Amino acid sequence: MTGQPTVLLGVTGGIAAYKAAELLRGFQKAGMEVRVMMTEAATRFVTPLTFETLSGHQVHVGEMLRADSTIAHIEEGNVADIMVIAPATANTLAKMAAGFADNLLTATYLAYAGTVVVAPSMNTNMWRHPATQSNVAVLRERGVYVVEPGAGELACGVYGSGRMADPESIVAEVKYRLQVERKTDLRGLHVVITSGGTREPIDAVRYIGNRSSGKMGAALARGAFDRGAVVHLVKANVDLPRAPGVTEIETPTAAEMYQEVMRLLPETDILIMAAAVADYSVVAPAGGKIGKSHADLSVSLVPTTDILCEVATRKEGKQYVVGFAAEYGMEGLARARDKLERKNLDMIVFNDISRSDIGFNSDYNEVVILTPQGESRVERAPKETIAEIILDHIARELRSRREEFLPVT
Ligand SMILES: Cc1cc2nc3c(=O)[nH]c(=O)nc-3n(C[C@H](O)[C@H](O)[C@H](O)COP(=O)(O)O)c2cc1C
Repeated sequence: MTGQPTVLLGVTGGIAAYKAAELLRGFQKAGMEVRVMMTEAATRFVTPLTFETLSGHQVHVGEMLRADSTIAHIEEGNVADIMVIAPATANTLAKMAAGFADNLLTATYLAYAGTVVVAPSMNTNMWRHPATQSNVAVLRERGVYVVEPGAGELACGVYGSGRMADPESIVAEVKYRLQVERKTDLRGLHVVITSGGTREPIDAVRYIGNRSSGKMGAALARGAFDRGAVVHLVKANVDLPRAPGVTEIETPTAAEMYQEVMRLLPETDILIMAAAVADYSVVAPAGGKIGKSHADLSVSLVPTTDILCEVATRKEGKQYVVGFAAEYGMEGLARARDKLERKNLDMIVFNDISRSDIGFNSDYNEVVILTPQGESRVERAPKETIAEIILDHIARELRSRREEFLPVT
């Protein structure tokens, strides 16, 4: 596999077919190319045009033979790094288990030699039926990965199991499967990532905070875990789905984040400080809620402990330390380089927060990666892609450091 992985997304005729469009977008955001194949029944729920527009590729539907007589079930399989069937109906699961090849999708499944992931979706009774359960067991036995449906209110009005897993969980599973077969360049390394924005209390209900969403940190955590690292995500006020396999620790304030990073530091190989940590905290936050009656109100602030400066004094050259510099305008680049040197960092990732189309709270970013050796500009891309590029840089640098110490034979 080189560059962007390609997902072959098979959509079957279940009520959750509409969610396949969101799933397709999720794959794209994760830096994947998507090709779509639909069963005839699926086209009664969503039109091929939707998927054609979103994927930018022709959608193959239904029967095996096409007018131009190309062999789509072989061709599409050949370009795909992974095949995902979501939603997977009871009918299609049964056909897969029995080895039927009576439509393009089932024929492609039989002809496909790579990894297959299915996300079943159906009414609770259909899901629980022994026939469906035994079909799923057969597929599992043959190496198909099943993203279990969740419980919830189903389209038929009843509450129960059978609802297709969230698109994020399916994307996470697919990413994991692709990575397992791909990069393991951080295997066994202990990675600590901070993310989100700290909140410094003014009183029991108010705080001084910032707009950081934690998306960059979450993407880095997922990426590092996928490459085999043991990952701790030290997060402040982040409202995002949990990343599978990552240990998450809540640290709402700058002081708590500082404590946690220091606690983990001795065991850390790579520290990535992607959180927006408050520079100041309130001297004496009020215990209750400050009332409206004050004619004049002021709060005194003190600087918080600079986590990166503390790390720099304690790291003893062992850890690879990455900072983030959120600066207003490109003129901040010089300040970022200064921070790299002053705080003795191995890397600093600069991003311009004056732009609304990237950075804070956006799914996208555009960064400049600065190291003592030079700088590298990364064009606007989904945060997952930016995370991969940052991790590639780190892995490459660690590899070259290891090689430096290899004995000359
Ligand atoms: C309104 C409606 C909703 C349906 N929803 C589901 C569903 O969620 N899951 C399922 O397994 N079958 C569902 N079916 C039944 C399938 O559409 C039917 O079994 C079809 O033959 C599946 O074909 P396919 O597997 O080739 O896509 C539904 C049928 C209708 C009419």
